Amino acid sequence: MGLGSLTVDARLDLFGAAPALDLRAEIARLRKERNAVILAHYYQDPALQDLADFVGDSLDLSRKAAATDADVIAFCGVKFMAEVAKILSPDKTVVLPDLKAGCSLEDSCPPDQFAAFRAAHPDHVSLTYINCSAAVKAHSDIIVTSSSAERIIAQIPPEQKILFAPDKHLGAWLSRRTGRDMLLWDGTCIVHEKFSVTELLKLKTLHPDAPVLAHPECPAAILDLADYIGATSGILDFALKSPAQTLIVATEPNIIHQMQLGAPGKTFIGAPGADGNCGCNMCPFMAMNTLEKLYLCLRDLTPVIDVPEVIRVRAKLPLDRMLAMAGGPVPVRGD
Ligand code: 13P
Ligand code: SF4
Repeated sequence: MGLGSLTVDARLDLFGAAPALDLRAEIARLRKERNAVILAHYYQDPALQDLADFVGDSLDLSRKAAATDADVIAFCGVKFMAEVAKILSPDKTVVLPDLKAGCSLEDSCPPDQFAAFRAAHPDHVSLTYINCSAAVKAHSDIIVTSSSAERIIAQIPPEQKILFAPDKHLGAWLSRRTGRDMLLWDGTCIVHEKFSVTELLKLKTLHPDAPVLAHPECPAAILDLADYIGATSGILDFALKSPAQTLIVATEPNIIHQMQLGAPGKTFIGAPGADGNCGCNMCPFMAMNTLEKLYLCLRDLTPVIDVPEVIRVRAKLPLDRMLAMAGGPVPVRGD
């Protein structure tokens, strides 16, 4: 039986019995041997961010995956992100350290129910958040990320009706920002839902000069307390450029790693959950990827991401629209 047929956990068990390896050196060796590129999202464990060739938000990671000339893309992120890489670069081998690294937004939107929702609203354009399965993308008109959505909505004629899935908080925020009425799917991110208004208000009292930076996947009650709202790339940019010395960060706390690297003299405080600390706001899906699993997936080229060709071709169309409509880097706004 080849190693590829074993589960990640079984391969980890075998690996546990092996003599200690210098994982960073081994990953560097395999990256070269395989002509691999390692892409990582800001929510990944800092050890993975530090090893990656590129760390970015969902839009920038998609652009990198579409443009790479590597033979292998090792995606340190969640499954829908690795699927996007495969859809845009079908000739590459795309590996994900742990295939179980899903997303609550993807789970909230089963493809058959989404297809029925679309069929019930044939006069609506479907603007779909990239946090969904390849099959849902295949039923969509345009994919958006949180960094590109406003720019893309501005290009949709005002009389055109829009439905937005699967994140109801991001959809509601976009609706407020753009003044466009949108039919919303009822999905949420379990990570951004956990921030506590009461605890955030207490923290603001302790740090009255600290701006609050929030991701639009947060509920409106949290966004109402924010000084800046934006995608991870925008939050990072704001944190680095802001004259404030202490900032409160209402998104997955692993992004603070890049803030500390870019502005070591500043203090970044993760917004708290109901228990008063930010530990509950770690994304459990992102956390499934580890250094050991990255090593194993580069060594064995498994778990590999496969998207059935009929779905891949249909899903590529709304992703290509996103890349075209998003244009160059989206300007960061502080309002
Ligand atoms: P962005 O990095 O595009 O802001 O997405 C955040 C997120 O929740 C990814 O799962
Ligand atoms: Fe999904 Fe939320 Fe985790 Fe992002 S942070 S992968 S939206 S569960």
